[in-house]
Amino acid sequence: MIDLFGRPLGSLRLSVTDRCNLRCRYCMPEDEYVWLPRASILRFEELTRLTGIFARLGARKVRLTGGEPLLRQDLPELVSMLAAVDGVQDLALTTNGLLLATMARRLAGAGLQRVTVSLDTLRPDRFQALTRSERHADVLRGITAAGEAGFDRIKINTVVIRGYNDDELIELIEFGRRVGAEIRFIEYMDVGGATLWTPERVFPRADILAALEQHYGSVKMGTGPAHPAAPAEEFILPDGTPFGIIASTTAPFCRSCDRSRITADGVWFLCLYAEHGLDLRSLLRAGASDEEIAGVIVDTWQARADRGAEERAGLEHRGALYQIEGLRSDPHREMHTRGG
Ligand code: GTP
Ligand code: 5AD
Ligand code: SF4
Repeated sequence: MIDLFGRPLGSLRLSVTDRCNLRCRYCMPEDEYVWLPRASILRFEELTRLTGIFARLGARKVRLTGGEPLLRQDLPELVSMLAAVDGVQDLALTTNGLLLATMARRLAGAGLQRVTVSLDTLRPDRFQALTRSERHADVLRGITAAGEAGFDRIKINTVVIRGYNDDELIELIEFGRRVGAEIRFIEYMDVGGATLWTPERVFPRADILAALEQHYGSVKMGTGPAHPAAPAEEFILPDGTPFGIIASTTAPFCRSCDRSRITADGVWFLCLYAEHGLDLRSLLRAGASDEEIAGVIVDTWQARADRGAEERAGLEHRGALYQIEGLRSDPHREMHTRGG
């Protein structure tokens, strides 16, 4: 099954909650949010059923996201249900790490294969300013616990913001090396929710590479991403340390994008930037069969022509994607509802 640009459906991002226990300034800078109604949140059986349908249509990679996915009650139980779905070869999680130390072992035991933890700074005072939380040490503990829990691979996502943490790139690389995690630097993106985004705050791939080369010497391209549709480009330092850059803002990868996402209330979005999604919850709850739901998914994917990040990059004047009123009128536009 391919879309209008020949892109297969390869990866599914499942948001399990829109709630979050941080308030990162690049994602949730506002004081108040409109939350998805509780009754609309998909149950584990519904999430597992949808995952099975997507897996039969070719989605081999499943990533649990949020909000903060570890806030979802009994998440390890969902992990074990998803790990048992035929066709799912890679089951991963993106977390802010606050609750990871207490859950890493149970998640690994339930069949979670990989984790990615968001960490933008090594300095507690900066963390406080960025996330409005005092719990920096919990994130560091979470990363250590993940290392001990036996996951296949641990990655750290660092959103680089000019004037905020662009002077910490070397320290973060060294930290990653110490804890056995691969750092991925992410360009600040003008996604829904990022109401404070301005082009001046973006620290682009070219500047990230220049800063690292000045310190370490010449950086080589990796042998290519493990998966051709992965958003991160792989690089290698002279001593062999790998790291990644996700340059969605200045060098989007829409051409090879095989991903889509389901919000916690069952709306399926084909692009991080898409204005509208397809309401799968209504289909599920109206009693549609797996075949009927699969049929709708196939028709929708085959008509997919999204290239949101490339369209944004082509704009002459670029600012925040939505202002606060636009986000309040439809919380599905929020990054914390879409899960990235
Ligand atoms: P793996 O490739 O499986 O390691 O995971 P990942 O990199 O897809 O997952 P992660 O949740 O760590 O996402 C990393 C960054 O890529 C986040 O900042 C996401 O918002 C961004 N990202 C994820 N999906 C998309 C997408 O469809 N389009 C764009 N432009 N960026 C995305
Ligand atoms: N720009 C770039 N990355 C972002 N994330 C959230 N908002 C933004 C943004 N505006 C990242 C988080 C997390 C991932 C799922 O998305 O840091 O690592
Ligand atoms: Fe931060 Fe992720 Fe929570 Fe957004 S969803 S506020 S990026 S921890």
